[in-house]
Amino acid sequence: MEKKKVTKIGVLTSGGDSPGMNAAVRAVVRTGIYHGLEVYGIKRGYAGMVENDIERMDSKSVANIIQRGGTILKTARCLEFKEPAGRQKAYDNLRKLKIDGLVIIGGDGSFKGAQKFSEEFDIPCIGLPGTIDKDIAGSDVTIGFDTAVNTAVEAIDKIRDTMDAHDRLFIVEVMGRDAGYIALHSGIATGAENIMIPENETDVEALIDSLNEKEKRKKLVNLIVVAEGDKFGGAEEIAKVIRKRIPTADTRVCILGHIQRGGSPSCSDRLIASHMGYYAVESLMVGRHNVMVGVINNKIHYTPLEKAVKQKQKIGQEWMKIVKILAS
Ligand code: F6P
Repeated sequence: MEKKKVTKIGVLTSGGDSPGMNAAVRAVVRTGIYHGLEVYGIKRGYAGMVENDIERMDSKSVANIIQRGGTILKTARCLEFKEPAGRQKAYDNLRKLKIDGLVIIGGDGSFKGAQKFSEEFDIPCIGLPGTIDKDIAGSDVTIGFDTAVNTAVEAIDKIRDTMDAHDRLFIVEVMGRDAGYIALHSGIATGAENIMIPENETDVEALIDSLNEKEKRKKLVNLIVVAEGDKFGGAEEIAKVIRKRIPTADTRVCILGHIQRGGSPSCSDRLIASHMGYYAVESLMVGRHNVMVGVINNKIHYTPLEKAVKQKQKIGQEWMKIVKILAS
């Protein structure tokens, strides 16, 4: 069966925002206009679709945003869209405007919604991986990760100055509820002695042993980078154990939090977002529907939405070996 030609498209940002989402919106809007499409901005993710908060966009509406963090379309996590009645309302609103294609910029939760929606209704959906967590199968990169991890590195470098001055042990918690990429990359880049991530069981006994061994050889400055989703419970929990078991260590905690989600996107995130935004519209034009646009080995790669939501990127164990060797 021949696929219908797409003429009016909607773009939305959903889930946690990430630096570079604006650059992606800009690319979608301007590529759409280049192809003679009408482009609509859907506000607050799926909530705007359900509540008919949708606006026509032109080239000017995305001027001067490529360098801005956050998202001009705003974002939300929408419970109503998880229900069939909510999705029906969203579809009816799109039909009123004759929108016949969607670009969804978000993480895997957002893609789950898109996948369900595309199964139920005849509106093709294209996903763009926009998340600081870099935890989406089908892409080596996600929009926002590079900026977020560099924000973490910059902050940890500053912490290192003061911890070194005081001979302290610092536990820095970075974002990543289900994924340890920010912790792994920022930890390696800042020379962390230990890195704890949700993908691995945290071996507290091994951690205490290694800290004791370091203390014996008067290595008092120790940096532990932990992802917020680490199974042991995050920085505060680890600090409690260390304070109890190694009371001589001068232990401090810093939780970086949402600072990692904001800020001007890095050059790399702007490029990724522009590239992916362009190919999202191309995909709708050529009938390559219900896929996520990703990048693998520096080349654009398309993954069916259903696969992008079912699989996670995996952290290779080799990385953990490297951490141990470099931290000795
Ligand atoms: O966007 C991903 C993420 O930053 C996770 O790393 C983090 O756990 C979560 O979002 C925080 O979400 P919220 O801003 O809703 O608290």
